[in-house]
Amino acid sequence: MSEDLLLELRDLSVSIVGKKETLPIVKGIDLHIPRGSIVGLVGESGCGKSMTAKSINNILPPFARVTGGSIIWRTEASGEVDLALLKEKEMRKKCGTEIAMVFQEPMTSLNPLMQVGEQIKEVLTIHGVERDNKKAKDRVIEMLSKVGIAEPALRYNAWPHELSGGMRQRVMIAMAMICQPKLLIADEPTTALDVTIEAQILSLIKELCRNNSMSALVITHNMGVVSTLCDYVYVMYLGSVVESAPVKELFNNPCHPYTRGLLSSIPHVGDNPEFLHTIPGNVPDMKKHFKGCDFCLRCSDDIKQCFFEKPALTETGAGHFVRCHRSLGA
Ligand SMILES: Nc1ncnc2c1ncn2[C@@H]1O[C@H](COP(=O)(O)OP(=O)(O)O)[C@@H](O)[C@H]1O
Ligand SMILES: [Mg+2]
Repeated sequence: MSEDLLLELRDLSVSIVGKKETLPIVKGIDLHIPRGSIVGLVGESGCGKSMTAKSINNILPPFARVTGGSIIWRTEASGEVDLALLKEKEMRKKCGTEIAMVFQEPMTSLNPLMQVGEQIKEVLTIHGVERDNKKAKDRVIEMLSKVGIAEPALRYNAWPHELSGGMRQRVMIAMAMICQPKLLIADEPTTALDVTIEAQILSLIKELCRNNSMSALVITHNMGVVSTLCDYVYVMYLGSVVESAPVKELFNNPCHPYTRGLLSSIPHVGDNPEFLHTIPGNVPDMKKHFKGCDFCLRCSDDIKQCFFEKPALTETGAGHFVRCHRSLGA
């Protein structure tokens, strides 16, 4: 596969492994992150987005496991490595500083008992990137300024509770960026923030990617975030990719009924709030095995074939893939 891919998930499966049964959560997905690009992963809550992200840097919860496929990481320094085969310690050594993650709720990820500057500095020391205390501190202050924190030298000594939600998320991004990662994984980075702060954080992520030749995987359930930020988008439903395309193509020509549902759920100014569009039904129970298309019980466009045969992900245009019998002309 192409040298230009920084990360390649190949037929990746993640399951919850219990004593009696194994419950598939991510069901054989392929996902590519080319160097320098921002890739979006969207879908409703519970469809497996976070589990996919956590499998990349080996921070799955103890009950979940990668049960198939590979996670190919390609850099000049480490060559080609399958991260799925590495133990946690080896993973930290190989690319601990190269893959960074930002989560939805910065308050739970920050240590409330440590000044924010010290927390960021600790990342540099733990990874042995900068052992000199003064130099490390200067680097943190520079990073705080880069993520748009005013008076960074003063803010270095702030406690997490003294900062607003938006400022805390900026601190988290500074912490993620301090070792100059090649990939930033941002899992719902703006869900807890109000819309103006959201817009600022999104443009910050975009700018940091462009200025540091960094790639990003941005996970969200918000199609607005996707349209502002991403180059290419994967739409996930019940553990599978149902559609993927370059962002403009996905918005101009959504082919899967689920993607169309997500897009028409975006409210517009002037919409009558009593008639906001929703996708009917809920994400079905992952435990129930169904031989047909996973989406057909919520689909208004289904045909007979959808009930007894799973559609395959098929390329319908340049870089545009769809998993739907109907859109494939059945
Ligand atoms: N702590 C948990 N205990 C049991 N099952 C879980 C837990 N966290 C996630 N899951 C299962 O994994 C599925 C995918 O979760 P997740 O990747 O967090 O979804 P998303 O990020 O798309 O909202 C959920 O639908 C649920 O079935
Ligand atoms: Mg999630």
